[in-house]
Amino acid sequence: MINDNAIADKVMKEMASDELNLKKVVAEKAVDDYIKDGMTVGLGTGSTSEYAVRRVGELVKSGFKLKCVATSERTADLAQSLGIELCDLNDVDHIDVTIDGADEVDPAKQLIKGLGGALLREKIVAAASLAEVIIVDSSKIVEKLGVKTPLPVEVVPYGHKKTAYALERQGCKAKLRMSGNTPFVTDAGNYIYDCKFESIESPFFLESRIDVIPGVVENGLFLNTADAVLVSHPDGTVTKVV
Ligand code: 5RP
Repeated sequence: MINDNAIADKVMKEMASDELNLKKVVAEKAVDDYIKDGMTVGLGTGSTSEYAVRRVGELVKSGFKLKCVATSERTADLAQSLGIELCDLNDVDHIDVTIDGADEVDPAKQLIKGLGGALLREKIVAAASLAEVIIVDSSKIVEKLGVKTPLPVEVVPYGHKKTAYALERQGCKAKLRMSGNTPFVTDAGNYIYDCKFESIESPFFLESRIDVIPGVVENGLFLNTADAVLVSHPDGTVTKVV
């Protein structure tokens, strides 16, 4: 006889596989639609981007000549394992297209990113890209930024608690991201505070306030960054917000 726990377990597994498939669907569509032979490509970070990197790996295997720039050590490791040629950002003129995930997307294509911890490099790579294509499933779409997820802010470790007080004065609860018993450390050797607002009413104003706090390295608001957002829906369709 199947007990309640077994049923709950099965439902959770099915939900998880649905979610994974939606990430795969949107990631593969983005790669197929935007990546052309000979391009320089930015590789995002996160579970959705991972599917995109795997698809790029397939293109490379099929003979595409691509130069790629990774937005994190984690993505670089995956790309290398797939035989993708990686370049230092300093060694390329520009990036043609970057495909990356996001944590929240509002109707104006403004984003929160960084729950995967790679916001600093992701923002630098996005700024060097002619086109930034964001891939999400529909659960990431919100009316207002900040309603579901905290805003990640990368800070230098020195005096980080003082930086956190200054962040909280902007109206949030700032929580130091942990990895087990120690602070999570980014690829640049910094810490992240996850700043939970009820909602972010004025993203541009908030960004201007956060960026002048001493100790802040970068914030997870990606404003006017996305050129296109591809969204996968539970029925398997993908829509595009431009
Ligand atoms: C990493 C990011 C990711 O793109 C974002 O967290 C989305 O990740 P996922 O696709 O796993 O939901 O910004 O810094």
